Amino acid sequence: MSESHLFYQTGSRRPRIARAEGIYAWDVDGKRYIDASSGPMVSNIGHSNPRVLEAMKRQMDRATFAYRLHFENEPAEALATLTASLMPDALDRIFFVSGGSEAVESCLKLARQYAYVTGQQKRWKVLSLFPSYHGSTLGAVAITGMHQFVEPFRDMIRVMPKIPAPTCYLDHDALSFEERGLRYAAGLRAEIESQGPDTVLAFIMEPVGGASTGALVGPDSWYHEVQAICREYGILLIADEVMTGAGRTGRFLAGEHWGLRPDIIVMAKGFAAGYAPLGAMAADRDIVATVIEHGGFAHGYTYAGNPLACAAGLAVINEVLDNDLIGNAARQGDRLKSALTELMERYPFIGDVRGKGLLLAFELVADRETMEPLPVELQAHSRLVEEAYARGLIIYSRRTRGGTIGDHFMVCPPLIVSEAQLDEIVSILIDSLDAFAAAAGLPVDR
Ligand SMILES: Cc1ncc(COP(=O)(O)O)c(C=O)c1O
Repeated sequence: MSESHLFYQTGSRRPRIARAEGIYAWDVDGKRYIDASSGPMVSNIGHSNPRVLEAMKRQMDRATFAYRLHFENEPAEALATLTASLMPDALDRIFFVSGGSEAVESCLKLARQYAYVTGQQKRWKVLSLFPSYHGSTLGAVAITGMHQFVEPFRDMIRVMPKIPAPTCYLDHDALSFEERGLRYAAGLRAEIESQGPDTVLAFIMEPVGGASTGALVGPDSWYHEVQAICREYGILLIADEVMTGAGRTGRFLAGEHWGLRPDIIVMAKGFAAGYAPLGAMAADRDIVATVIEHGGFAHGYTYAGNPLACAAGLAVINEVLDNDLIGNAARQGDRLKSALTELMERYPFIGDVRGKGLLLAFELVADRETMEPLPVELQAHSRLVEEAYARGLIIYSRRTRGGTIGDHFMVCPPLIVSEAQLDEIVSILIDSLDAFAAAAGLPVDR
């Protein structure tokens, strides 16, 4: 390859894509890859869906851009109506953005402006979880719980208080899983009390953890209790459904598994499934009405409600609903989770398999009993990904425990995945794990 003028986060580079279709992508040398992570948990309906491409082409012939101060547009209106119909009661005011970080910035600012105009100026602290990931912009970094993404910027921002994520699977105590959930929720109450309840604006969480925890699912008790605590203290509950929303966990919103009724929900990723940069914030109608009455939301983006992006999003959501891809995520997710769990017999170094629907991950450890992570220098998170990539299988990994130690791997194929395709994914994964184990000197029970 000739010298590239592009740069990304690191110096490591990948082959160029030639085309993609369904759950597959091909590079310019003709090698085929199974996109078993949907990119970064984005391509929910697979690649090159004809219905979405057709809808985008139709919109391109009409208008690709309309600035909101000059024109409204039909796709944005239709997508807002459809989105509102899929939200919990009264969360039916929809604000469009271009991605997850913008959606997170928007919800922080809407929450703050609501407090500001309702005489609660002292409320500005947004509590969140550690580990967690909420995006790359500075507001999102302030509430993100991953050391490497926060430390370089700490002096530039007001880093917000964090409470431990409900990582009950790591706890060695005499409590039941549900009792642990209550203990973690008590951590939220304690933090609110120590910060001063009238200074806390909101609590934001990913209902099922994303890349920072590897599909962490808390006990049922945790969800019910944190919602009750937020209500008790008049603190806004914000669900970051950027990764979990739009069907990935087997419900349109992951919060539905627990009957969550947040005040604000943010979505992106699977919402337009990679066809256009698009995200959305759904907010309680009273919050929005109050902010609008008091002079308007002091926030917005040039590309907000872009007609082409909204036409793509509308076709994506209709494709998800018309083909019961949410049901498929639940069914195939159960199948894939069982298959991954079976791998624990062969690989003693798989410590945990977790997630919901097709938001699934497995975590590697040095010792399953103690859940001690593999040595950091082993770089398991990147080595196994490379073994899989070499075999044409794309999975997604991160460090599990705050971004610095631990190794988990997200296996999150598009929601259109078939049983035969899942079998192929698991079979390549086994080859990759065998090769990784051999190179790393880890045991395999054949
Ligand atoms: C839970 C969550 N929130 C926010 C974001 C930020 O989204 P984006 O990368 O589209 O800005 C992500 C991205 O991974 C995410 O997983």
